[in-house]
Amino acid sequence: MVESSSDVMAPPVETHTVSIDLSQANRTPPYDIVIGDNLFANAGELIGQRLSARRCLIVTDTNIAPLYLKRLEAVLDASGHTLLPSVTLPAGESSKDYVNLHVLLNRILAAGIDRSSLIIALGGGVVGDLAGLAASLAMRGIDIVQMPTTLLAQVDSSVGGKTGINTDAGKNTVGTFYQPRLVIIDVSALDSLPLREMRAGYAEIVKYGLIKDAAFFNWCRAHAGKLLNGDRAAQIHAIAASCNYKAQVVMADEREAGERALLNLGHTFGHAMESATGFSNALMHGEAVAIGMVMAFRLSAQLGLCSHTESYDVRDHIASVGLPVKPPALACGVDQLMALMAQDKKAVAGKLTLVLARGIGKAFVAKDVRETEVRAVWAEFL
Ligand code: GLY
Repeated sequence: MVESSSDVMAPPVETHTVSIDLSQANRTPPYDIVIGDNLFANAGELIGQRLSARRCLIVTDTNIAPLYLKRLEAVLDASGHTLLPSVTLPAGESSKDYVNLHVLLNRILAAGIDRSSLIIALGGGVVGDLAGLAASLAMRGIDIVQMPTTLLAQVDSSVGGKTGINTDAGKNTVGTFYQPRLVIIDVSALDSLPLREMRAGYAEIVKYGLIKDAAFFNWCRAHAGKLLNGDRAAQIHAIAASCNYKAQVVMADEREAGERALLNLGHTFGHAMESATGFSNALMHGEAVAIGMVMAFRLSAQLGLCSHTESYDVRDHIASVGLPVKPPALACGVDQLMALMAQDKKAVAGKLTLVLARGIGKAFVAKDVRETEVRAVWAEFL
């Protein structure tokens, strides 16, 4: 699936392309995820070659706008696209709410957008999820290109078409499945990312090894240091591999009726912790997932599904890159955390459904997990 894309275009940089084709499943056009160094400089061409010249509206946030907005506007303009007034949202997970969705939709509609226009999401997961949701709603659907700038968005949230906002009922509880028309991953954007965010994104990379591929987990153990320290080859390899795993899963099960649920490894524990910390900076999504994966492997070992050695290997690797392996101080106890887990949208008919593992690379969806066993793991970790 990962291949050189020289036959599609001739950019001056080496690129990898992963393709997602859901045309059989839902008639959405196939799309490419193009990965490379300094790719934002080619964004106008990459879009033009696949989608023709468009009226483009960029959605970004207050962290990213000063770094890339003017440059992106210049390359789009130089490639013959027409720019509509861009929208800059406040940075941070707390922006993923009804208020900002409302603001964004109003700005999109006021900009004079039409069905042939293009929304460009330039930023991390918050921008991608909000812009994706707005794109799916405005005029019953405007095309969107994702240009993720964080490692987490590059390896997970920009790919596969999930959009959403957080509500009182939990994380991503209002959203749509709406596939982008193109994903442009410029690895050089990672240079401006704080180490904490790099680590949080790394949790989603290692997740693919834990779910599907023990050999990739071993690659992660050998290369995590280089990747986090800016080694381009390691970054590109890990991002291309992650997008490839994700593409396979999304093509097999776009709407999360089965296999896609595996991508939620660590997420049900993680979402409860994120909710308990008010989706605040106290715990980033990737950090919550990292802790959640350690807990899922601990629970798997306690249930005799995998060895304790494997669960310690997972914990030790995650700790070795500087990610947390225990929850931060939480204002609530086990009862409330259990309630938050049950509230998670992955809970079916009140029963706890969790992604557990029969070993590293052997994740599966476990239904009817006994509450007492889950409580015991929380009690151990708090
Ligand atoms: N982040 C999980 C998914 O896209 O399904």
